[in-house]
Amino acid sequence: MLVIVNDTYDPMSKEAAKLVADRLRKKPNLVLGLATGSTPLGLYKELIRFHKEEGLDFSKVTTFNLDEYVGLPPSHNQSYHYFMNEHLFKHINLDPRHIHVPQGMAKDVDVFCSWYEQRIAECGGIDLQVLGIGANGHIAFNEPGSSLGSRTRIKTLTGTTRGDNSRFFKPNEDVPRYAITMGVGTIMDSKELLLLASKTGKAEAVKAAVEGPITAMCPASIIQMHRSAFVFLDKEAASELTGMYNDTWESKVFA
Ligand code: F6R
Repeated sequence: MLVIVNDTYDPMSKEAAKLVADRLRKKPNLVLGLATGSTPLGLYKELIRFHKEEGLDFSKVTTFNLDEYVGLPPSHNQSYHYFMNEHLFKHINLDPRHIHVPQGMAKDVDVFCSWYEQRIAECGGIDLQVLGIGANGHIAFNEPGSSLGSRTRIKTLTGTTRGDNSRFFKPNEDVPRYAITMGVGTIMDSKELLLLASKTGKAEAVKAAVEGPITAMCPASIIQMHRSAFVFLDKEAASELTGMYNDTWESKVFA
């Protein structure tokens, strides 16, 4: 695992974007795993800039998103598909046929989840998976207690998560109860992982993930078992770490 600490969110996002761009230049048909949430927004902004100003080409890239709410169509402004369109997809030259976001409106969710796993495999597996981390150590919708070997499946959202989300929905609208999420095992099969965390609210989770015991109670801690995981942090998110982390990712060659 390589932990890269930048002073603040912007340089952290720019460093992480350099890694994605490097992998894409080396492999134009990169299979890229994507996350929603506020943390990767700076990374996506920088990738858009690379595309517009430096011609970074996404035309052969295939993407797989980590998760989606059950019951929300891509047109719903709280769906993760909508989020991805707004913050990345519509600004770059991805082929829409190469975009995969779990289908919140799938008629048979279990069949869909098996298909999603199969589709990832057919595309040769995910080359680089972007991840955020929850304050409780979750990755994707794999909350504490999730099996570290889990695959893409439906999960019930916790009361806390639903409560947190309710502010984004109209008073008469149902807040989603379920989500489809890649499993921890699915994420770990990716050839490289790029986890981003910013601000003090994530410091405890980052400490548990990077330096704590590997446990299902902190699903992100499994990244310690990955052969090629990059953890991009700002100083606040790194503030609880006791190890020395000041490498640059460019200086490292992985076995
Ligand atoms: C989103 C996802 C979530 C977020 C996490 C952090 O696709 O998988 O696990 O990465 O909840 O969210 P932010 O970045 O909003 O703090």
